[in-house]
Amino acid sequence: MPWGMLSGRVRGTGQRIEGGWPHELPGRLPVGRGDRASYQIEGAANEDGRGASIWDAFSHTPGNVYRGDTGDIACDHFHRLEEDLDLMAELGLKAYRFSVAWPRIQPEGSGEVNRAGLDFYRRLVEGLRRRNIEPMLTLYHWDLPQALEDRGGWTSRETSERFAEYAEIVYEALSDDVEFWITLNEPWVASWLGHEAGVHAPGRRSTSEALLATHHLLLGHGLAMERMRSANREGNHLGATLSLSPVRASREKDEKAAKLVDGNVNRLYLDPLLRGEYPKDMVEHYREVSDFGFVRDGDLEKISSPNDFLGVNFYMRHTVREDDSPEASFPSVGARIVIPHNVRKTAMGWPVEPDGLTELLVRVNEEYGPIPIYVTENGIAVHDYVDPEGSVNDKERVEYLDSHFRAAGEAMERGVDVRGYMVWSLMDNFEWAEGYSKRFGLVYVDYPTGKRIPKSSFRWYSDVMRRGGVGEAFRSKNTRSKERVARSHAPSPS
Ligand code: FCB
Repeated sequence: MPWGMLSGRVRGTGQRIEGGWPHELPGRLPVGRGDRASYQIEGAANEDGRGASIWDAFSHTPGNVYRGDTGDIACDHFHRLEEDLDLMAELGLKAYRFSVAWPRIQPEGSGEVNRAGLDFYRRLVEGLRRRNIEPMLTLYHWDLPQALEDRGGWTSRETSERFAEYAEIVYEALSDDVEFWITLNEPWVASWLGHEAGVHAPGRRSTSEALLATHHLLLGHGLAMERMRSANREGNHLGATLSLSPVRASREKDEKAAKLVDGNVNRLYLDPLLRGEYPKDMVEHYREVSDFGFVRDGDLEKISSPNDFLGVNFYMRHTVREDDSPEASFPSVGARIVIPHNVRKTAMGWPVEPDGLTELLVRVNEEYGPIPIYVTENGIAVHDYVDPEGSVNDKERVEYLDSHFRAAGEAMERGVDVRGYMVWSLMDNFEWAEGYSKRFGLVYVDYPTGKRIPKSSFRWYSDVMRRGGVGEAFRSKNTRSKERVARSHAPSPS
């Protein structure tokens, strides 16, 4: 997905690029980026030596993805690299988050390195640098080499070791030119949607396997961090990205369910990463499916080795009710999501509650911080269409982003160290199980021709970045009304 950095860094100096933020905001909110995952945009699934990933296998199995869509061609970004880089420059992006496809680098998931795969990302990074766009690289955005899945995938500890080797290869090749490194994108989604719900690759359906995957993904992060740190690239920033959601009980009697959902979605990842332990209530809750015997001595120390930042992907708050049926949204903790009254929904059916972002950032900072935070994904799916004049007017997306930027600003006012903000996504792309039916981009992609059509949000975002933020409006209502009160009490000049 695309993001915008509200502040960038001056390479090599370690200094943040400051300035531009009006008034009392504690720094600039670095916005101005587009964000995208390899499988969702690249296409060229069988070219230049790329091996198969679990998403190739999953999407090619009938019934898994809407209309049978696959990432075989996707946005054809692999072949349209220069054109897409020019679009980023036209937009005025300051930073761009992208992911590397592991099977392009190691087609079999281990051993031999495919140089052509590395070259593709080298060209991408060089192209970004030439346009003064800061690259932020994600090592794993869900496209595990199928060869590793055949040996157990994330349910096997061996995969964590292979991940660390792969991380070292990519780091070795690109760490002189890429300063920001993210090991994992959203391990919750990979574990639970992929291993318990079966709606994402690899399509497994087992709670105990989802727990195994959780631990092995986190361990993979820890082992990869160890390897990357030992390369001694001073000044680089390493971290992981989690999908986090504040959780609320719909009714008083749903408090217990809400605590369990919070445990499953948020604390099961935040606690090991930032505190070096699994939450006790979760270990207790899952006692019947797992004794957590997969946690070996020393694992948690590795998992919790210091991160330079935390990446936070925010899409929604979860309001939940108890639900013990197998169709529940979170079957292993007996809860389902409900949409509160008067809350708008996106084309994904997700509730729009920007204050949830403030709540989340403040909570993470208070309970797990202080730690620099990058909002590495935030955005909205809209039923976009090209009108007879050839434009795409996505007012809803502008409103969504504007309100979320302000919500992040509010968190900054409350002391959260938000260093950057990436919008998901630069262009429409393969939205996993939803195929091409859901559009998140600032740029519309006409899939049959591959044509890119900047939407009205593209112009708006470009303007936001040029102005260095959402300006006056970015300040919270709260601050503005405090100012009004202060002004009304100020002695009048005599
Ligand atoms: C996130 C994913 C990203 C995209 C957005 C909408 O969970 O990281 O790839 O699908 O949701």
